[in-house]
Amino acid sequence: MASVLSAFIVVVTLLGVSLAAEEGFTLPPVEYKPITKLAADIPTCRQEDANINECIKQGFQQLTPRLKNGISDLNIPPMDPFLLGKSSYNYNSGVLQGRIAMRNVVVHGLSEGIIDKVDYRLKNNHVRLEMLSHIPQMLAEGAYKADIKLNDMKITPKGTFNITLTNVSMKSRSSGELYERDGHTYLRLAKLEAEPKVGDMRIYANGLVPDPALNDVILDFINQYWRQLYQAMLPETMAIWEPLMLKAGNDFFAALPFDLLVTKD
Ligand SMILES: *[C@@H]1O[C@H](CO)[C@@H](O)[C@H](O)[C@H]1NC(C)=O
Ligand SMILES: *[C@@H]1O[C@H](CO)[C@@H](O)[C@H](O)[C@H]1NC(C)=O
Repeated sequence: MASVLSAFIVVVTLLGVSLAAEEGFTLPPVEYKPITKLAADIPTCRQEDANINECIKQGFQQLTPRLKNGISDLNIPPMDPFLLGKSSYNYNSGVLQGRIAMRNVVVHGLSEGIIDKVDYRLKNNHVRLEMLSHIPQMLAEGAYKADIKLNDMKITPKGTFNITLTNVSMKSRSSGELYERDGHTYLRLAKLEAEPKVGDMRIYANGLVPDPALNDVILDFINQYWRQLYQAMLPETMAIWEPLMLKAGNDFFAALPFDLLVTKD
């Protein structure tokens, strides 16, 4: 029973760390070189365009497939597959103590994203962008290793895992202020909120328990109840993700003048 419980905890943590991040997690480093001019194949929009939302939507849509190779003109590294590198998570809740580490985690599918809706507003120097998008299918795979202590029992499951996510939709809201620097207008983001929804999820992992038949029983249970687990973990995982995304967004916009993307005549 104890080993089933700890196997269960391993899978739940895998879900949490793969879908989102946990402590001990960092995004791969990106070098943001200052940009003063855009390559001709980078789409831009005009602030005065009456259909600016449609223009921004088309622009994002044109760039998304290029995430495969990265867009060096925009300081965007290759993101499909996206390599998460190493991450680890520790927990300590009295009777249960443990650490789970993951390596070689690869996420596929980001370049297949579809932009459904864009709502952009500029008022005085305040920018607000709301976006709806979805990814038809994503796959995350990697290796895991855990050390778990439950009362006096010590368990060390390890193996490989993969998680298939279908119809991952994302509603994001960001806002910030424009400011002038060296003759250009830049954007400083103050807020970035994201609300991801998952249509369906399937997780596979081996090595949870020595007995393969029991391993499968545990997986079946989790695949049946993933929705409840996901809902329970979402607030905590988003609380870790959002500051990371805000930081990455601000590093990105500190190197890239906003007036190159949305021009003013
Ligand atoms: C997940 O891993 C299992 C076992 O290696 C494999 O049978 C299955 O095809 C994998 N799923 C995907 C979507 O790659
Ligand atoms: C995908 O998810 C969105 C939002 O939850 C939903 O509106 C849409 O119908 C779903 N699409 C498919 C193909 O299931």
